[in-house]
Amino acid sequence: MQDLKYVKIDRQVCQWLREAREIVLSELNSQLTVETKSGRKDLVTNVDKQVEQFLTNKIKTQYPKSHILGEEGFGDKVDENTDGIIWIVDPIDGTMNFVKQRNNFAIMIGVYKDQEPILGYIMNVVTGELLHGGPLTGIKLNQAEISNIENQGLSEGLIGLSGPLLVHNEYNMQTIGDSALGMRIYGSAGLEIMAVIKGELVGYISYLRPWDFGAGKILAECCGLSFTMVDGQPLNMLSSGVVLIATKRAHSDILTIVSQ
Ligand code: IPD
Ligand code: CA
Ligand code: CA
Repeated sequence: MQDLKYVKIDRQVCQWLREAREIVLSELNSQLTVETKSGRKDLVTNVDKQVEQFLTNKIKTQYPKSHILGEEGFGDKVDENTDGIIWIVDPIDGTMNFVKQRNNFAIMIGVYKDQEPILGYIMNVVTGELLHGGPLTGIKLNQAEISNIENQGLSEGLIGLSGPLLVHNEYNMQTIGDSALGMRIYGSAGLEIMAVIKGELVGYISYLRPWDFGAGKILAECCGLSFTMVDGQPLNMLSSGVVLIATKRAHSDILTIVSQ
């Protein structure tokens, strides 16, 4: 049964995301201020910062007691001792795509209470597709219910992989890719997790940080997908590492290859 309190929060967050989308679309053709973070492939723009500030303000105004973990640092200091509600915000997921393509990027929010999943959001900014909900509300793609995801094996579908893992053949990534019908590299963890939920990929593997998977973990697990570290170990919501999201059969096929 749906919990009406969370249905109401869900409606409100969807509205914030539609407003955040408008902010990004209004900047889509303007000149961006681009800075590097850890290296030349790790970018942040003025729009990443603007969106994170916008969402942080909305959350703080409406839910002043909750904590926010924001990729660009406008949130709070959050660690494993932080209890209560934690909002994990990735203001632009796929910033490289945003800068170089002005397409193929997402806004993401994950909401946890005492480390338990509550609500997740992945908004494809350009198409307007919004995947939203959680265990107490159900998951929808805009207004539509998500249909059952076919439990295909690795050899029956496409696999989303991270470029660096594939190039360096970490965890036997080249064999994993070769075992699938094909490989895809989208450059946005959010859109790749959304593609697994839509049944367009049987799985996705990448090095991810909490804001890259916080939303997707909630959404994917609600849809019956497996979401673990690449060696099958459980994933802590505040940790970073190589993460595997897949249908149950593809997950098992991939773990077999990783352990070879
Ligand atoms: C990145 C994207 C990319 C993934 C990286 C992430 P960002 O997020 O999701 O696809 O491979 O690991 O950091 O930095 O653009 O938010
Ligand atoms: Ca980001
Ligand atoms: Ca990200």
